[in-house]
Amino acid sequence: MLRIAIDGPAGSGKSTIAKILAKKYGLLYIDTGAMYRFAAYLMLTENMDFNELVESLKEKEITFEYKDGEQYLVVKDEIALYLKDELRSVEVTNLVSKVASNKEVRAVLTDMQKKIASENNVVMDGRDIGTVVIPDAEFKFFLNATLNERAKRRYKDFIEKGVEITFEEVLEDIKKRDEMDAKRDVAPLKKADDAIEIDTTGLTIDDVVSIIERNIGKVH
Ligand code: C5P
Repeated sequence: MLRIAIDGPAGSGKSTIAKILAKKYGLLYIDTGAMYRFAAYLMLTENMDFNELVESLKEKEITFEYKDGEQYLVVKDEIALYLKDELRSVEVTNLVSKVASNKEVRAVLTDMQKKIASENNVVMDGRDIGTVVIPDAEFKFFLNATLNERAKRRYKDFIEKGVEITFEEVLEDIKKRDEMDAKRDVAPLKKADDAIEIDTTGLTIDDVVSIIERNIGKVH
């Protein structure tokens, strides 16, 4: 089996790198942040409390699919729901760390993630993949970068998508989420003892991929 765990704070480049590794090694890419974002989205759109949310999540089958070269989180229900940009809204982003700190929500989503990782070769990114979801992953990486650099990357993404937001707002959001994610009691954002830490500040995407490939030992 080949399972690659990638953890790190917001804007550290996890998803960009994970997508490239998924292609190179033929792995299924699982964006666990999108699953927590979906929980926050459900709470907002269906006006649920935590008990209702947990019950609703238990009933759902969440998968990931590619359509027109883009990855979507897909919820299999009566009609399959394809979600992407909805999960990146300011409202969802503001709520997600609170939802992700709920023990029952984490239990349901962690079980789903563990199941996917037991049945597929995966590259999974998140905050607790190397510590909780796949503690026995073949490879574990922890990506980091300075707060300023991470905020710059996220700001650039927003501007390219035409979202109206200031650099200061992006920086504050990242800072606040990282604090909540690192301080929560259950499965906090943390480097696994056996994860390889990469400081991506000042590195290009190719640089980071090369470092990871050297570690995996399959340089193409
Ligand atoms: O990766 P992304 O920034 O989209 O994640 C959104 C939020 O989901 C994080 O800020 C964190 O609160 C939560 N999360 C988590 N555990 C994971 C992945 C994401 O708590 N494995």
